[in-house]
Amino acid sequence: MQHITIAIDGFSSTGKSTLAKQLAKELGYVYVDTGAMYRAVTLYALQNNFIGDNYFKVEDFVLELDNINLSFKFNDSLGFSEMYLNGVNVEKEIRTLEVSSFVSKVSAIPEVRYQLVKQQQKMGEGKGIVMDGRDIGTVVFPQAELKLFMTASPEIRAKRRYSELIKRGDKVRFEEVLKNVQERDYIDSHREDSPLFKAEDAIEIDNSNLTLEAQFESIMNLVRMTMEGQ
Ligand code: DC
Repeated sequence: MQHITIAIDGFSSTGKSTLAKQLAKELGYVYVDTGAMYRAVTLYALQNNFIGDNYFKVEDFVLELDNINLSFKFNDSLGFSEMYLNGVNVEKEIRTLEVSSFVSKVSAIPEVRYQLVKQQQKMGEGKGIVMDGRDIGTVVFPQAELKLFMTASPEIRAKRRYSELIKRGDKVRFEEVLKNVQERDYIDSHREDSPLFKAEDAIEIDNSNLTLEAQFESIMNLVRMTMEGQ
């Protein structure tokens, strides 16, 4: 069967990565979480004091981009790849609310996007890839054979994110998680460079009331239909 490119875009915490991992496992494809790349770059900016509560040294930070090395390494016991920043596993550190609250600002910088998009396009050269993010179907792989655009209500998304953070032992309040989800939606879809929007040929999936199993089943049907049409 012909290998295809699957592009999954959508708002934060719509279950993009859960779905992408399920699809990659089922199809034997590579999964790339592009949000993790923007998060790792943000972590670097925080760790090196380029960004903080009241400042962002954008020009200095842009000059630093060549010193940021991002890579994914497959973790056999987890069954998916983890994010490495300059050789260090940062999978846990990039998921904190602190990183979440700065990542939209960092990912709005055109130089950051230019570098990461180039790396993402290289990763997908051989097809057989599932990539999730905000601009995959519009900018990174406009020719992707299957494009999905995920949505769900902000409250449902914040509830999912809140449970994830609590499960990990983070001390957060539901209200701040909801506020972060809403702020990121706004910044991600209003920035000048590659804002989040649904590609014309993307299929919209509102999973507010869908179980994971039902969603997976219906999307696997779309995948099969897409492959047969190749
Ligand atoms: O998917 P995520 O919530 O982990 O992504 C974190 C942030 O990274 C998101 O708020 C916007 C940014 N992002 C982006 O601008 N473009 C992408 N392709 C992926 C993520």
